[in-house]
Amino acid sequence: MIIKGDVHMINETLKVIKDRRTTRKFKPEQIREEELEIILEAGIYAPSAHNDQPWNFTVIQNKELIEELNVESKEMCKDFPDELIRKMANNKRFNIFYKAPTIIVVSGRDDAIMPQVDCAAATQNMLLAAESIDIGACWNGFVSFLFRSEKGEEYKEKLNIPKGYTPYYGVALGYKKVRICNPPTRRENTIQYIR
Ligand SMILES: Cc1cc2nc3c(=O)[nH]c(=O)nc-3n(C[C@H](O)[C@H](O)[C@H](O)COP(=O)(O)O)c2cc1C
Repeated sequence: MIIKGDVHMINETLKVIKDRRTTRKFKPEQIREEELEIILEAGIYAPSAHNDQPWNFTVIQNKELIEELNVESKEMCKDFPDELIRKMANNKRFNIFYKAPTIIVVSGRDDAIMPQVDCAAATQNMLLAAESIDIGACWNGFVSFLFRSEKGEEYKEKLNIPKGYTPYYGVALGYKKVRICNPPTRRENTIQYIR
């Protein structure tokens, strides 16, 4: 859907940016290796402060480990101050990864100048790459509660996250079970021009 702008200037990139929606229903089958590589390559082509490229990607396709991360992340949020998070954490049926078959954990090197921002840029690149090849993706902040908890170090070790790196985000990937079209309405008055 074209919200604003000249219809003749809408190209494939702009279309992917506008069409991308968070997927929360995945098919169980695994994505193809070539698709995974395309998505990871998009991640490493993100911009980064000082060209640090301070990211590290941990690809998890082991069902048991994904389930363990789901359960443990929720466990850490059972008494979370935010009500919505607390409710999700206490809902047995809620799966923080929506049963996606692939999870990528994006970690940033602590001594980089802006590691979290760089990792966010890499994450968004991966979401857009996924959309461009019709793979469903969900940016996952929930799992970071586990890494920030008292069990954080244990899980950083278990996932082999390099020393000196902090895991910031997860990306859940898989084939879309449902296709979501309507983007949430955009907040108004978020742009000011000074000319
Ligand atoms: C930093 C960040 C963390 C997020 N964490 C989660 C999450 O843990 N679970 C989830 O379902 N969606 C998560 N999202 C996705 C947002 O909920 C989603 O992008 C937003 O509702 C807008 O919907 P859209 O992506 O379909 O446009 C996260 C997004 C961002 C940018």
